[in-house]
Amino acid sequence: MTSIKKKIDKLRKHILQYEYFYHVLNQSIVSDAEYDYLLNQLYNLELQHQELITSDSPTQKIGINLLNKFKKIKHFFPMLSLENTFDFNGYLNFEKRIKKFSIIQEQSFCCELKFDGIAISIIYEEGILMRAGTRGDGYIGENITPNVKMIKSIPLKLKGSCIPKRLEVRGEVFMMKSDFLRLNEKSTINTNKIFSNPRNAAAGSLRHIDPKITAQRKLIFSCYSCYILDETQKELNTHYLQLMQCIKWGLPVNEELIVCSSSQEVLNFYKKFEKIRSKLDFDIDGIVIKVNSISLQNQLGSNTKSPRWAIAFKFFSAERITKLNNVKFEVGRTGVITPVAYFDPVNISGVIIKKASLHNKNEIEKLNLHVNDSVIICRSGDVIPKLLSVIKATQSIHAKKIVFPKYCPICKTKLLENPEEKIVRCHAGLTCDAQKKKFLHHFFSKKSLNVNGLGPKIINQLITKNYVKNPIDFFYLKSSDLMKLKNINYKKSIRIINSINKCKKTTFKSFIYALGIPNVGETVSNKIACHFVKLDELIHADFFQLNNIEGIGRVISKNIVNYFSISSNYNMIIKLVQQVGIFWNESEVIVQHKSTYFLGKKVVLTGVFNSFSRQKLIFILTNLGAKILNNISRNTDFLIYGKKIGSKFYKAQELNIKIINEEKLKLLI
Ligand code: IVH
Repeated sequence: MTSIKKKIDKLRKHILQYEYFYHVLNQSIVSDAEYDYLLNQLYNLELQHQELITSDSPTQKIGINLLNKFKKIKHFFPMLSLENTFDFNGYLNFEKRIKKFSIIQEQSFCCELKFDGIAISIIYEEGILMRAGTRGDGYIGENITPNVKMIKSIPLKLKGSCIPKRLEVRGEVFMMKSDFLRLNEKSTINTNKIFSNPRNAAAGSLRHIDPKITAQRKLIFSCYSCYILDETQKELNTHYLQLMQCIKWGLPVNEELIVCSSSQEVLNFYKKFEKIRSKLDFDIDGIVIKVNSISLQNQLGSNTKSPRWAIAFKFFSAERITKLNNVKFEVGRTGVITPVAYFDPVNISGVIIKKASLHNKNEIEKLNLHVNDSVIICRSGDVIPKLLSVIKATQSIHAKKIVFPKYCPICKTKLLENPEEKIVRCHAGLTCDAQKKKFLHHFFSKKSLNVNGLGPKIINQLITKNYVKNPIDFFYLKSSDLMKLKNINYKKSIRIINSINKCKKTTFKSFIYALGIPNVGETVSNKIACHFVKLDELIHADFFQLNNIEGIGRVISKNIVNYFSISSNYNMIIKLVQQVGIFWNESEVIVQHKSTYFLGKKVVLTGVFNSFSRQKLIFILTNLGAKILNNISRNTDFLIYGKKIGSKFYKAQELNIKIINEEKLKLLI
């Protein structure tokens, strides 16, 4: 028996034993992580030695923990999404912004198709496919290397010359419409799962627990960007040239790719594909326009969600006509009033839709809606339901006009309009039942204080029975209170109480996120936690301190200052910390960082860097514990500069601030 076979046999024996204990004896004798790890090892070995696969191997079974089936991978730098526009003006504004930023006016843009599939990243080292992952949350994805290796058009080894030490290619995996129909036909005969559209079919096939199924499913890959680690390929200084080089290395790149030097050419490309998209054998939901020059891309960098050098110009999807029944005005967690249109259900691209957000007051006024109107519905970007317009011809003169309310539909407080944010808000806070319910649910949710078992139904009952008015009340709940609610027995009540007690130990970023400050999501909470480290410093931070943090803009800074200036918020926080005993380890914020050189240091960047895009550099430095600021002040610790330095450089010299060039920086990180 070969050593590989021995290894495989041993793995199978262990896994089968664990499964027997788990499924038959109801005993868990290993952790999920260990079980997943062993199963993964077995997959990989079987993948390399397919002759050793047997039908009784644990990998051949379906129904194994489908949720935890893949290991996590950390992306070398974030997989962002794209800014969207649905009209040409949106594109023109993008182009104007780029031209205003760039010193050279004549800029070319690359136009590509926007495939409607699943984004993946593939890493080649010395030309060999080493790792492939899904996008995940942009930072952490799933390791789907064995599955990706099964896609025929993806080379396991790059061909040609000048192969870089490390190459990351990103692109979309999708399924041809004809293959999707064939797959569903086959599934109907075999009474297997039917997929609602080619995208879902591609996702299910790509993330299948059994890579052999992935191999059978005829997936297509199209590469749309690449990142070359070493500096051997400096002449590949445009996006177009990089993709052409990818083709030479044997990677599939869709041939519908053009370089445009005028907005008219971009519009022609858009119109051409808008017209013929239904005749293509794969789904596209728009086109993507990218700045062609790589150095300009690097100078433009990214914001937290998307790069500033690219935009998706999306198509409207199929439209349907239906009857509007009503518009409800929903009150969000932070008091924002959102009108939502309810209509007779319609099926668009395989999905049944019965409601659509109307976003804000302006939209309601623009649409001029009446009850019973015939309305046109589409799925913008092929995903989000959108009410496009009203068919005026069939409108009845007696119909009831839909108007934006003046008072909160839940607590009747007078609504206030914020023209800067284009929103209408109920400012009643926790005295408004709708906000109270949503806020309390948010406060204890997984990404906040992470209490198990406190879903909206339980929270609503607790509020109705007057057991809780604010987060503090939850910490004084007794098991007898919880047992008075529907479907809660003694055991469940104890589990909830224990989970509430356990949540007192948290992290600074989760606590900030839990507060539910408008526009302060996970990313912003993390940035603020790393920057201030201490709660007291955050509470007393002024607008300028906040606005000076990279990625924290005017609106967020204002919201944070406003939030802490309201005495009821301040009192709640103090009680939560001092009376309830919520705590976190301040050094935990720091432990995340590996090096000490940049730890807690205030760093300003200027110029253009050869080896890093702005976004990548910010990502690396923040991970090392640095606080990246926009402007030089006496408190700045380091200025890091690249080529084309500006006034920040001279100001740093004047203030005697330590200045670091790119070479030194590379050594330091
Ligand atoms: S470029 C930084 N090019 O669209 C983002 N994306 O909304 C770089 N997509 O997750 C992406 N076709 O999966 C790019 N030609 C194309 C694309 C494309 C489809 C997807 C991609 C991404 C999503 C962003």
